[in-house]
Amino acid sequence: MAATSTGQETWSGKAAFVFAAVGSAVGLGNLWRFPYAAGENGGGAFVLLYILCIVAIGLPVLAAELFLGRRGGGSAVAAIRRLAEADGRSGAWSLFAWVGMVASFLIVTFYSVIAGWVLYYAWTLIVDLFTSIADQGLAGLTGGAFHGQERAAIEGQLGQLLASPGKMILCHAIFIGLTTWIVSRGVKGGIEAAVTILMPTFFVLLVILSIFAMIQGQAVTALGFLFAPDWSALGERLSDGSILLSAIGQAFFSLSLGSAMMITYGLYLGRDQSIPGSASIVVAADTGVALIAGLAIFPIVFQFGLEPAGGPGLMFGTLPLAFSQMPFGSIFGIAFFLMAFFAALTSSISLLEVATAFADGDVDLDVEEKRRRRVVGAAVLGLVAFLVGCGHALSVVPAEVADTFFNDWHPLGFLPLFEGQTLLDATDGLTTYVLLPFGGLMTAIFAGWVVSRTASREELHFASEAGYRRWRFLVRWVCPLFVGAVLVYGAVVSPW
Ligand code: PFF
Repeated sequence: MAATSTGQETWSGKAAFVFAAVGSAVGLGNLWRFPYAAGENGGGAFVLLYILCIVAIGLPVLAAELFLGRRGGGSAVAAIRRLAEADGRSGAWSLFAWVGMVASFLIVTFYSVIAGWVLYYAWTLIVDLFTSIADQGLAGLTGGAFHGQERAAIEGQLGQLLASPGKMILCHAIFIGLTTWIVSRGVKGGIEAAVTILMPTFFVLLVILSIFAMIQGQAVTALGFLFAPDWSALGERLSDGSILLSAIGQAFFSLSLGSAMMITYGLYLGRDQSIPGSASIVVAADTGVALIAGLAIFPIVFQFGLEPAGGPGLMFGTLPLAFSQMPFGSIFGIAFFLMAFFAALTSSISLLEVATAFADGDVDLDVEEKRRRRVVGAAVLGLVAFLVGCGHALSVVPAEVADTFFNDWHPLGFLPLFEGQTLLDATDGLTTYVLLPFGGLMTAIFAGWVVSRTASREELHFASEAGYRRWRFLVRWVCPLFVGAVLVYGAVVSPW
């Protein structure tokens, strides 16, 4: 970790910052959420809109968040207040950073539960490997996972887990505990070390898995589903507006935007680092991982006649089937879920960091006081996230297994958008489709209309004036009009 002349810590190098930002972006949003969102929205049409949203909205907003964070200094809320006041505007602009902070905290409460499922799968595969070796010797090591089990049992892993609230809560506790511990120690050292090694390894494993899925499964059907938009279906879906909201929401979730998170990490970005360059790498890596995850999952979906619109359980129903068919399936499976666990951890650390940085106080406190505040802040936030997460876990327990109160509770059910949804689904929907797009919209307005042109030009430091102009046009016009219209239509008008 290096220190600048002002004593502010920065990432130790360009690669380290990029890895950390990629570490935040790449996570369950790519592996778990993207495939199920694509499946629910008919595949190709959604993927096309998603990529458009990433390029025209995600990339400029990401660059904006990074420059606001670096220029503002301090926590996200303090950074926006300072920038607004520097330009003679009201400090109330920082309200949108507050919304982002609340969103990132709400996300971590359910993110941790899903990451707990990932951990449980890794554990189940480890136990399965030992049982197979005990039963069959070396063949147990080289064969597929879940050897000798019926397809229904393999597919039913998630069902079994959902019916065991104790296991779900234990895994959630381990995950949120680890997140809190790392954040309380100061994220930078830990994150740098973890992401520099784990992210590249994870990427290689994901590529192997997708190649295997394509060879064994229905590659052509999957490619057609993901990449050949059915134009007539697209027309129909567009008229309902919700597909646009899903694509925009997914883009914000996947790139960790609108949650004040990239503003928070921007603070640690060295002055000499190019923001447009770093932002492009983050976007390319994140989108690449999401698409490859789709290629690992959909060939299996079609091979086994599963439902592409299977919802949040999609990844957890398909991957065990892939691992049961693969040579060395247990080993690949264990490695994959452990890596996915780490990918989720680098994202959840960034999620909890937003509110912790705020609790941490401002930049000019003395080091000891800052450390103390950080430990207390992280511990309190981690504990609250654990308790709320227990509600999420209990909300997905099938009612016939146990009446947990939460499984019959539909907190936002009075809004058509969230009708019949459990606490977990409603929190996922509220953050992804409402709070993050709102945060992104306000970031674009703030960066494009409030912060002076001189400040943004100097801080972004584009290689060419044309690049800067394009960025400014996108954040001033395209993002506000498009995201604003979709938000109003998708969340307010169309459900009624
Ligand atoms: N981008 C993360 C993922 O795709 O899993 C999730 C996320 C992290 C969302 C951080 C928002 C955030 F601030």
